Amino acid sequence: MQTSARDDKPLSGKVAVVTGASSGIGAAISRQLAAAGAKVAMAARRENLLKEIQDEISKEGGVALAVKCDVTNRAEVKELIQHTESTLGPVDILVNNAGIWVIRCMKNLHEEEWDQQVDVNIKGVLNCIGAVISGMCERKRGHIVNMSSQNGKTVIPLVGIAVYTGSKFFVEGMSRTIRQEVCKDGVRVTCIQPGEVETP
Ligand SMILES: NC(=O)c1ccc[n+]([C@@H]2O[C@H](COP(=O)([O-])OP(=O)(O)OC[C@H]3O[C@@H](n4cnc5c(N)ncnc54)[C@H](OP(=O)(O)O)[C@@H]3O)[C@@H](O)[C@H]2O)c1
Repeated sequence: MQTSARDDKPLSGKVAVVTGASSGIGAAISRQLAAAGAKVAMAARRENLLKEIQDEISKEGGVALAVKCDVTNRAEVKELIQHTESTLGPVDILVNNAGIWVIRCMKNLHEEEWDQQVDVNIKGVLNCIGAVISGMCERKRGHIVNMSSQNGKTVIPLVGIAVYTGSKFFVEGMSRTIRQEVCKDGVRVTCIQPGEVETP
């Protein structure tokens, strides 16, 4: 049987979903997954940026799908996964990368920004896991990659990042616990803890 160059790549045949793919780390991960042969659904709110990356990946011979999605909206996240599965196939890899960080002292009570960080960094991650987990467990395969931070493992002495730090500690604790639940079904759960990365 003949195999194409794409079939030889380590992730050929795999379907990945990357949230927060319109810039920074998520855009870079999307490009790398596509270069490794995965078909990549890229989600974020800024569809124009996603389309530019989609075009770039297509020109390189990869397969990418730009999907406008706000991860804080559970219905949109379910649609993202349904659209990905009907277009590209069952999701093998979820990269839960969308996240925001705000530097504000707690005493200044920027409550809306607390909510935004909790909504994106915590609830958004849960919404995405919720949309893929039963399918992965049924298929007995899958990999959930949650973007934590060095701030998810240690408290960095920087004033104003309490809510962000708390949100990444949540990601770490939830990931370690969920791993116990799904590893028997062949589903892996990984956290990534980047240090400082220059991104938008
Ligand atoms: N840069 C660092 O030094 C660093 C260090 C440790 C961890 N991290 C983590 O790495 C991840 C990516 O950060 P980055 O540095 O690459 O930041 P970035 O360039 O600002 O990218 C953030 C991404 O999240 C998306 N996003 C934000 N809110 C969203 C929402 N409600 N729904 C869907 N997508 C949303 C943004 O897309 P739209 O605005 O288009 O929706 C964007 O694509 C975050 O989880 C961050 O906490 C970053």
